[in-house]
Amino acid sequence: MGGKVGVALALMLLTLFSSSSRVDSRIRHYKFTVVRKNTTRLCASKPIITVNGKFPGPTLYAREDDTVIVRVVNHVTDNVTIHWHGVRQLRTGWADGPAYITQCPIQTGQSYIYKFTLTGQRGTLLWHAHINWQRATVHGAIVILPRLGVPYPFPEPHKEEIIILGEWWKADVEAVINQAMQAGLPPNVSDAHTINGLPGPSPNCSYAGYSLHVESGKTYLLRIINAAVNEELFFKIAGHHLTVVEVDAAYTKPFKTDTVFIGPGQTTTALLAADRPAGNYIIAISPFMDTIVATDNQIATATLRYDGAAPSAAAAAVAADIPARNATAVTAAFMDGLRSLSPGGGAVPAGDVDHSLLFAIGVGVNPCASCANGSRVVAGINNVSFVMPATALLQARYYNVTGVYTADFPAAPPAPYDYTGAAPANMRTTTGTRVYRVEYNATVQIVLQGTAVIAPESHPTHLHGFNFYAVGRGVGNYDPINDPKRFNLDDPVERNTISVPTGGWTAIRFRADNPGMWFLHCHLEVHTTWGLKMAFLVENGKGPNQSILPPPKDLPKC
Ligand code: C2O
Repeated sequence: MGGKVGVALALMLLTLFSSSSRVDSRIRHYKFTVVRKNTTRLCASKPIITVNGKFPGPTLYAREDDTVIVRVVNHVTDNVTIHWHGVRQLRTGWADGPAYITQCPIQTGQSYIYKFTLTGQRGTLLWHAHINWQRATVHGAIVILPRLGVPYPFPEPHKEEIIILGEWWKADVEAVINQAMQAGLPPNVSDAHTINGLPGPSPNCSYAGYSLHVESGKTYLLRIINAAVNEELFFKIAGHHLTVVEVDAAYTKPFKTDTVFIGPGQTTTALLAADRPAGNYIIAISPFMDTIVATDNQIATATLRYDGAAPSAAAAAVAADIPARNATAVTAAFMDGLRSLSPGGGAVPAGDVDHSLLFAIGVGVNPCASCANGSRVVAGINNVSFVMPATALLQARYYNVTGVYTADFPAAPPAPYDYTGAAPANMRTTTGTRVYRVEYNATVQIVLQGTAVIAPESHPTHLHGFNFYAVGRGVGNYDPINDPKRFNLDDPVERNTISVPTGGWTAIRFRADNPGMWFLHCHLEVHTTWGLKMAFLVENGKGPNQSILPPPKDLPKC
């Protein structure tokens, strides 16, 4: 065989191999040790619950198709679980993490191995504790790189940076919420916001904030994560625009903006061009709230520092640029700007859906003899305040344990009313551990309708186990005749967490191609605690490939 032919053959084989199913996926091992650690953030020394002693916790790096194995060891007196927020967990619901939904918590001295494969996703996500309010300090980034050799659908950045936004309480967070629950009142707002664990210079505290170093003329990929507990946030960099390229590990059409609007549980990956005169520029985060509810109004700051700029140089003022707390229009413009890069033909369930659900979400008021006002603030979906079971729902389902839940979650509010009008006379909710049953591969549409009970409020709503398409959004009450005519079924943004506008609605669609028990809840933790949550029971399809895997041997017991 001539040399040339041999080379050509070898090349052909190479191409063949690299274009057929690749064998470069890997197994990534991590160990998460949950420990209390003393920290001096905000100039106050106190022990917080952390993973591996870090705040924020370690970043989990992997590529699409990799299998991730995380051994979580609990060395604190509190029960622990970890949720891989936005990871689809195809058939591996046992590794999803919400306490009492897919697993019993990991008790003190125990461990549990989370094992899952990253299928069909690439971008930025987050992991966080999913029990009580522990996620305030137990959270970190998940970075899913494209498959080896697959480029980003945007110019290769010079460097990547993770930016995690958080909320900080001087008091112990569990004490904050427990006290509020006893009184039946809203909990105290946080004492500061943080950017990568630091509030930035704040009164009575001289800590420098986080700083992001850049070289003039280069482009950076920022992986922005909102790990705050109760607040949707605005993120800005003075004098700079950002080009959003991905949210919730799904690519978007490039979208240029000067403000990022990001709710708890959401991620936004954006390109930053260091194209301004060298110097220091303030990075700022501030709360969004367009109703009467209290927020932590502390603005956390960090610095964007160009190479060569003196650390002491006065930073450019950004204060005037910070959106008003109630800047609804800024949030709407941001959400309108997000479009899927390429949902692919037929990816968005179109036409008649199998399950068309109307979920009225909001707060309520129930009687409570021992509470401060004789009543307690609650929250719910379709007048149901979800009650956490004592056995995990997924286990109850798998082993056919009866009496843990009922599969009768209402598809619509029990009695329709003017959801965004004057508050109804009866603001009470019912209680129950009720789930909604869906057959494998069914198409589901949920119209999340915000209510005005007590006050209308924005709800960043998260669905576990799926990405959904946000096909429509509006103010006031959803109109089932006219609103669907304006749905975007071509390039709606694909997400796992979506803001339901204050006094308005959002319509989402997904295909129930993942058997399991999947939590849906408001990602403002206070609303989750109050009962704004439910679960979908998605049935197995035909055969093992459409069925949930058997539980791992070390699955914790309640
Ligand atoms: Cu990020 Cu159920 O949560």
